[in-house]
Amino acid sequence: MRIVMIGTGYVGLVSGACFADFGHHVTCVDKDASKIDALLEGRIPIFEPGLDALVESNVAAGRLDFTLDLEKVLPEADAVFIAVGTPSRRGDGHADLTYVYAAAREMAPLLREGAVVVDKSTVPVGTGDEVERIIREVCPNLTFSVASNPEFLREGAAIDDFKRPDRVVIGVNDDHAEKVLQEVYRPLTRNESPLLVMSRRAAELTKYAANAFLATKIAFINEMADLCEKVGADVRDVARGIGSDTRIGNRFLMPGPGYGGSCFPKDTLALLKTGHDYEAPLRIVESVVAVNDQRKSAMGRKVVQALKDAGGGADAHGKTVALLGLTFKANTDDMRDSPAISIVQSLQDAGVNVRAYDPEGMEQAKKVIQNVTYCANSYEAMDGADAAVIVTEWDAFRALDLDRMKDLLSQPLLVDLRNLYSRTDMEEHGFTYVGVGR
Ligand code: UDX
Repeated sequence: MRIVMIGTGYVGLVSGACFADFGHHVTCVDKDASKIDALLEGRIPIFEPGLDALVESNVAAGRLDFTLDLEKVLPEADAVFIAVGTPSRRGDGHADLTYVYAAAREMAPLLREGAVVVDKSTVPVGTGDEVERIIREVCPNLTFSVASNPEFLREGAAIDDFKRPDRVVIGVNDDHAEKVLQEVYRPLTRNESPLLVMSRRAAELTKYAANAFLATKIAFINEMADLCEKVGADVRDVARGIGSDTRIGNRFLMPGPGYGGSCFPKDTLALLKTGHDYEAPLRIVESVVAVNDQRKSAMGRKVVQALKDAGGGADAHGKTVALLGLTFKANTDDMRDSPAISIVQSLQDAGVNVRAYDPEGMEQAKKVIQNVTYCANSYEAMDGADAAVIVTEWDAFRALDLDRMKDLLSQPLLVDLRNLYSRTDMEEHGFTYVGVGR
């Protein structure tokens, strides 16, 4: 199978490299010469564990290459995947489809007879219809198909998610497209990953519904965590208690500082916009978005309160905290919509100074968080600070040297927004411990 992947961002690069690893011949195309140059020189422009080795071995095997030149590769392609960005449109939260439609228009005259154009970018319902219309407008006599194949890749675990998916969703409106996509994913279905075939519109909506539902689980458990703090229960017990019911499931029930990243915040807003456009209000998703927005700044206020409590009620103004972790979750350098941004803002609003460290996200963080002292490691961040605050669940923060922490901090106060530590252990070590929902 010859596959062309348009867009070498996160989704395009991971998917392209994995398809090549399945044995297909894949060419990834991008307009950004600096990205293509980097990839041709063997440099990976994003941080994703395992991706560099996967790209290297498939390039060496002659199954994966990169080009700026759509004209050279498209006429050979059996399947053309669109994996370009669909950022939130400024103002209304609707997904900006400019790049998707531009790709459709540009590829149209180069497509071969029978080509299947597959949208992998996250796009609102009906986008496939418009892609089809654009190609038809440019090439009225061409036989082609347009399909939807949403991705469900978690940053930091994307290769595993791609190769061992719970399911693959295929949205097709004709048999030929289904046959080609069955062939593309054959190596997976041999491993019994279910391939769910449905209409194109259902597939487009499935992606948003999945992310909105997962966001709902997180917002729900975060509200339960607040209630647990008030009633004196441990939210982790409650999460275990409900999650063991297979109808509920125990994943995505970890309370924390709120969800961030490139998908949940953007996709929930885009889904709300679709609901609005079709006059089908999505009140649950509306609440989830509001709950999560409030949660991020509430976590900053929680730290300020912990500082006040530790100081016998004195103002937190002029105090210093060490923020451990800045990215929206571990194993990524991604800062998009990271709770750390709001947390720093509320700390600074309360006059608290921030020292910060993140294992991978410092470079990205410096672009979005200012007036913070960036430190070379966790211990440098804690030096002289009045509290340590864990924001991201990096492995590096799971086994901190507690004696060293106590020496470095001006007072032994840990605010653990990811519940990495046991209260009993911390108290035995003489710490004041503040977790989430406990
Ligand atoms: C998500 C989806 O999981 C993936 O299927 C989709 O295609 C892209 O969006 P990603 O954004 O990489 O992936 O991260 P994910 O692991 O889903 O976490 C998203 C956010 O939720 C993070 O901020 C994380 O910290 C938070 N989260 C997740 C929780 O607060 N609690 C949980 O139990 C799980």
